[in-house]
Amino acid sequence: MSGFSYRTGALYAEDVALTDIAAQVGTPTYVYSAAVLERNYRAYEQVFGGQNVGIHFALKANGNLAIVALLGSFGAGADIVSLGELRRALAAGIPPDRIVFSGVGKTNEELAAAVKAGIAQINVESEPELEALDGIARAAGRRQRIVLRINPDVDARTHEKISTGKRGDKFGIPYADAQALYRRAASLPGVEPVGLALHIGSQLIDLAPYKAAYRKVADLVQDLRRDGLTVQALDLGGGIGITYNDEKPPSLDEYATIVCDTVGNLGCRLAIEPGRSVVASAGVLLSRVIYCKNGAANDILIMDAGMNDLMRPSMYGAYHPIYPVQEPSPDAKMTAVDVVGPVCETGDTFARARLLPPLGTNDLVAFGAAGAYCSSMSSTYNARPLAAEVLVHGHSYDVVRARQSIEAMFADEHMPDWVTGTDPIAMTAGRKRA
Ligand code: LLP
Repeated sequence: MSGFSYRTGALYAEDVALTDIAAQVGTPTYVYSAAVLERNYRAYEQVFGGQNVGIHFALKANGNLAIVALLGSFGAGADIVSLGELRRALAAGIPPDRIVFSGVGKTNEELAAAVKAGIAQINVESEPELEALDGIARAAGRRQRIVLRINPDVDARTHEKISTGKRGDKFGIPYADAQALYRRAASLPGVEPVGLALHIGSQLIDLAPYKAAYRKVADLVQDLRRDGLTVQALDLGGGIGITYNDEKPPSLDEYATIVCDTVGNLGCRLAIEPGRSVVASAGVLLSRVIYCKNGAANDILIMDAGMNDLMRPSMYGAYHPIYPVQEPSPDAKMTAVDVVGPVCETGDTFARARLLPPLGTNDLVAFGAAGAYCSSMSSTYNARPLAAEVLVHGHSYDVVRARQSIEAMFADEHMPDWVTGTDPIAMTAGRKRA
């Protein structure tokens, strides 16, 4: 877990003790390492940068403005999927010409905002979206650059919920329909089709599905060109998988070789949209033990973080490593414990029978590989405020999202007078209507 290491018996993020962050910011708190973020991003840049490959960070993995701005300062673009993410990317200073817009269901409002912002590319996923975008761009007096996202019908061999490139998945344009739709796009004045996109899934450990999908896309490029159509750009989707437990993901070099072998000789400008592999290992979720209680099978560690803060174990059965913040002595007795949150459902379980040293009330732990799809997927379920987020940079750190206040959590809610009983006439009318 580089960037996070034990020093003099306690876990540090770079040069900052996690105990200090817990004392000053409280828990649960996401802690990110700027150094790890930079290293992960530069790894992509090193492998691909020289070859004129656009690297667009997928904001859905972590849209915190500080994280996005930091990546932007390294030269990253953004892959967005909503108006909210567009606004985040722009607010973080990502230039519009480095933003690509993916997603299966973009509303007219979202398309119009993207056109108006002048973003680099919209990845169109269906015929109705193509027609809608054409109208919107024409009304704005623009010709929007687009690529068509195809569904290559390849099994990514990842978790079923994050597999996106199989026939029958909701994403992309069926492979067999792509050529006709591309031709149609080329005839529309409001859009300029410049290429193709695909994304077959996330957390891919096996390179074979990439190879199969990229080969299919290469064949399609040739078919389109034979048809007299111009294809200059290929967007290859998300990044490679990472190690949460014992997965052995491919190296970026191996991935780059596949890219080179399959689509490298088409003369296309390439783009990738990595999220997880850039930010996951740069973050931990710092949490405190509320109680340890005896369970029927294992002892149960009840944390102050819940499934609302870190949903992946509950949603995907995902594994996250758990590190005691106080370094266990080499002879510490490891026992199997269940690690759970305080939320009122059994699904709020982070780990079952996890081997950990003795831990009790007030002890701190860090959930590892928590920089991606953790904070960004959190909610206020059980009326639990969103956790704080901290970015560590060498010896210092900044709170890059304050812990949400309870007041802020329900500040936008409203109780009509007829509900609170301060408007009896309306109450009676309301009852009569019912
Ligand atoms: N591009 C597109 C079009 C995507 O749909 C995704 C992820 C990415 C890029 C980024 O992929 P990455 O490099 O992160 O693998 N919530 C799930 C992950 C959902 C991923 C959805 N799409 C999880 O926690 O595992």
